[in-house]
Amino acid sequence: MKTFAIILAAGKGTRMKSLLDDKSKVSYPILGIPLVKHVLNTLRPLSIERKVTIVGFGRAVTEEIVRDESETVYQHEQKGTGHAIMQVAPLLAGQEGKTLIVCGDTPLLKTETIKRLIDQHDEENNKLTILSAIVPNPHGYGRIIRASDNSVLEIVEQADVDELQNVINEVNAGVYVFDNKLLFDYLSKLKPNNAQGEYYLTDLIKMFENDGLKIGASIANNYQEMLGINDRHQLEEAATIMRYEINERHMLAGVTIEDSASTYIGPEVVIGSDTIIRAGTHIYGKTVVGKQNVVGPSTYLDNVVVGDENHIIFSHIADSTIGNGNEIGPYARLRGHSVVGNHTRVGNFVELKTCVLHDGAKSAHLTYLGDVEIGEKTNIGCGTIVANYDGYNKTKTFIGKDVFVGSGSTLISPVVIEDNAFIAAGSTINRNVGKDDMAIARVRQENKIGYGKVVREKALQKKLANSKK
Ligand code: UD1
Ligand code: MG
Repeated sequence: MKTFAIILAAGKGTRMKSLLDDKSKVSYPILGIPLVKHVLNTLRPLSIERKVTIVGFGRAVTEEIVRDESETVYQHEQKGTGHAIMQVAPLLAGQEGKTLIVCGDTPLLKTETIKRLIDQHDEENNKLTILSAIVPNPHGYGRIIRASDNSVLEIVEQADVDELQNVINEVNAGVYVFDNKLLFDYLSKLKPNNAQGEYYLTDLIKMFENDGLKIGASIANNYQEMLGINDRHQLEEAATIMRYEINERHMLAGVTIEDSASTYIGPEVVIGSDTIIRAGTHIYGKTVVGKQNVVGPSTYLDNVVVGDENHIIFSHIADSTIGNGNEIGPYARLRGHSVVGNHTRVGNFVELKTCVLHDGAKSAHLTYLGDVEIGEKTNIGCGTIVANYDGYNKTKTFIGKDVFVGSGSTLISPVVIEDNAFIAAGSTINRNVGKDDMAIARVRQENKIGYGKVVREKALQKKLANSKK
């Protein structure tokens, strides 16, 4: 039997209290990944025939996020979760199969939990199976109302609960498996008879129950999984839970994390054993870090591939590749698909932008290396600048092996400096330099014997004359 999935993601998220009129609630990130993307990541391992995300408020932003793995349907006006699912009727109504419904604002849901729900739905031959949870604070959630024989009677929303129902702590996680045909048949009969005047998807439970259609409920093992993000406090709460879970997973797999409270690692990051992650470090995106590295303190890696045995300290690195045994930082910045080989040194206040640094090359201090390839064992002196931009175009410079670039030099791109060349300190280089050649490009120094004293006396007399005025 086919399984379809619908992701509810059209709501405005009024409780986020944002003034931005194009930002959907499900686009708020946790560890660099939008809420709805976390949900899609959870669904990915399941065999689902068709995924449909319902977009509405902030449509363009949400569509951009889900585009490559889900179809989208636009809900013009947000008239409730039931109304949202009705928008999918043209795509799915009348088809044999079952439909999983999840909210786009529940980023902590686990694949196993959803799999268990689907399995239970099949095994019990249910027409509807609900995921519920027992929570310490049920406020804000729909409450599961059960009969004396424990069967599910209905779900009552927060805005509609009476005093007795208000203390029920079994709540609706917002995840359901429906018989697809029945889902759309019953949606067409749904009415907005409630405190908020909305079409509640949750009203279908009572309708199924009244017609004797079999309903099951699966209580989640861990209630935290179904935390729905409605405000920014819940956003931080969920982010913290996810962060500690991820950090724990790495620690148990052999990574040292010095201070979990200040370490942020995205869910897709891979880290090898015996690597030490020091305090204040953020590692995001599809970053892969090898073995026996020291990363941090206070380092930021985003989509970076790092080999083994590197030291990366107080640095900011994005979209780049780093080999083995490198010393990077403190205060280095690497970006724009830079590639660093092995056993190099990228020191303090050195920026690499689209730079290839081959094995053993060194740039120890205060340097900008943009659009340049640097050969093995070349030494880039302190304060070197590769001037790669003329205000309109970026051009590339090549520096060969074993080159010595003296401190305070400017290389005006495009130039080629061949192997073993020597650039005298303080040079401004705008022509190519051949193999084994030396280039010196600065005004020749002139010493005027005894003239320092003369200049100083003149200056003193001027100062005295001025003070008498
Ligand atoms: C909903 C459930 C509640 C459950 C809770 C779990 C209903 C009526 N209530 O309440 O029982 O305990 O989730 O987190 O279903 N959305 C749309 N279109 C709309 C309205 C909402 O797509 O017109 C989307 C939202 O973007 C969100 C999801 O549906 O992703 C849930 O909506 P939300 O307003 O957060 O509902 P809750 O009040 O949390
Ligand atoms: Mg919600």
